[in-house]
Amino acid sequence: MPLKPNAARADASERLGVLLAGMGAISTTLIAGVEAVKQNIGRPLGSLSQLALAPDTDPRKPQPLRDYLHLNRIEDLVFGGWDINPGSAYDAARRAAVLEPGLLEQLRPQLETVAPMPGIYDPRYLRRSEGRLLKPESNQFDQAEALRRDIREFKSRHHLQQAVVLWCGSTEVFSTPGPAHQGQRIFEAAMKANDPSIAPSMLYAWAALQEGCAFVNATPTLTVDLPVMIELAEEHHAPICGKDLKTGQTWLKTVLAPGIRQRMLGLAGWFSMNILGNQDGAVLDDPAAFRSKEESKLSALNHILQPELYPELYAQLSHQVKINYYPPRGDNKESWDTIDLLGWLGYPMQIKVNFLCRDSILAAPLLLDLALFTAAAQRAGRAGVQEWLAFFFKSPQVRAGRPEHDLSVQYQHLQAAWKQLAKAAVGVSA
Ligand SMILES: NC(=O)c1ccc[n+]([C@@H]2O[C@H](COP(=O)([O-])OP(=O)(O)OC[C@H]3O[C@@H](n4cnc5c(N)ncnc54)[C@H](O)[C@@H]3O)[C@@H](O)[C@H]2O)c1
Repeated sequence: MPLKPNAARADASERLGVLLAGMGAISTTLIAGVEAVKQNIGRPLGSLSQLALAPDTDPRKPQPLRDYLHLNRIEDLVFGGWDINPGSAYDAARRAAVLEPGLLEQLRPQLETVAPMPGIYDPRYLRRSEGRLLKPESNQFDQAEALRRDIREFKSRHHLQQAVVLWCGSTEVFSTPGPAHQGQRIFEAAMKANDPSIAPSMLYAWAALQEGCAFVNATPTLTVDLPVMIELAEEHHAPICGKDLKTGQTWLKTVLAPGIRQRMLGLAGWFSMNILGNQDGAVLDDPAAFRSKEESKLSALNHILQPELYPELYAQLSHQVKINYYPPRGDNKESWDTIDLLGWLGYPMQIKVNFLCRDSILAAPLLLDLALFTAAAQRAGRAGVQEWLAFFFKSPQVRAGRPEHDLSVQYQHLQAAWKQLAKAAVGVSA
């Protein structure tokens, strides 16, 4: 039975299920981080839901955003999920090697209680990895139905009214929307026929939406950016958003590029390099998976600079993005941006950015915020594509038209939506 728009309104103070499809580096850094914050041995830096203040707050009596929006408390989050490989969240976090072993040992009892349910694997969509913890069903429709049962059982076992599903699996190979993705009946028939244009991530999305769960796509793959999923989300009163968390290099790009354009400086080139050595990097070493990431990384600059309006400044721009898998660095990614800009009379200048970041440390707080914001949006009766969450994504999903990429404009949209959500939340408690 789908969650009715207002059904969960009275439950903001109840527990919230967070189901992670793909329990690797970013997912386990989220789970471990939440546990560390709960135990007061870590701070939730980078998380708006935990640290931001309400818009226009009174400085004499600052109000935390989480109170203003009536967000679920992190003490009330219940984690679960799926993976195609066995091992608890502790084992996966050890493998990912993002967090210090000493910290992981302190969190071990809690992390060991979170173990993945068997997942769905299709080697056509993930070629640099193998699946060893798989559902026995071989038909896509049966697999999706099994995922629905998992969600229902998880909610019932933990006495949950509401759950959100976050797709955090490996980047699937690049694909584009096809005939099977255009509507519910055709998608269902296609699943029954094991249609090759249906990726595993779409099965998680379909199952989540059928169960009335909000769905977040943290990766660059299509997943919920399809007509069938938008239709389903609206029908089942579920918010959806994606694609690809805006963490390191693209985040900085969407801070710098608007400044260059606002000054009417020209750009001849923007060359972006990355080295990383985590499992995500190994998967992206496959050119077909990298194509998904490349599309999402390239799109931001074009949208911000609008070369069609400013051909004199940006029509000749050469924008290139490279990602190299380099095992010694693990999750500690390094990126270089060489920006060739043009000033007064066309004189060339350069900006160099060298960002030594940590991939999953940047991603985990975004996942937390997205889980809490989509849950709050659902309680406020919002469904379908949540364009106001563009702030969090490299390639924001929109219902129609162009997505907004400029980080400061995205932040204004976020604040405007917070004000509306706060009004809806006040309406509920009144
Ligand atoms: N780390 C970042 O900053 C960042 C930023 C944006 C997007 N992402 C995206 O997030 C995703 C996860 O990144 P990560 O660093 O955690 O990768 P990871 O390789 O550490 O984890 C991915 C996990 O997903 C599992 N998996 C793969 N296919 C699955 C399936 N069909 N069903 C269930 N589980 C499946 C893998 O077994 C693995 O445990 C990637 O697609 C990545 O591109 C990461």
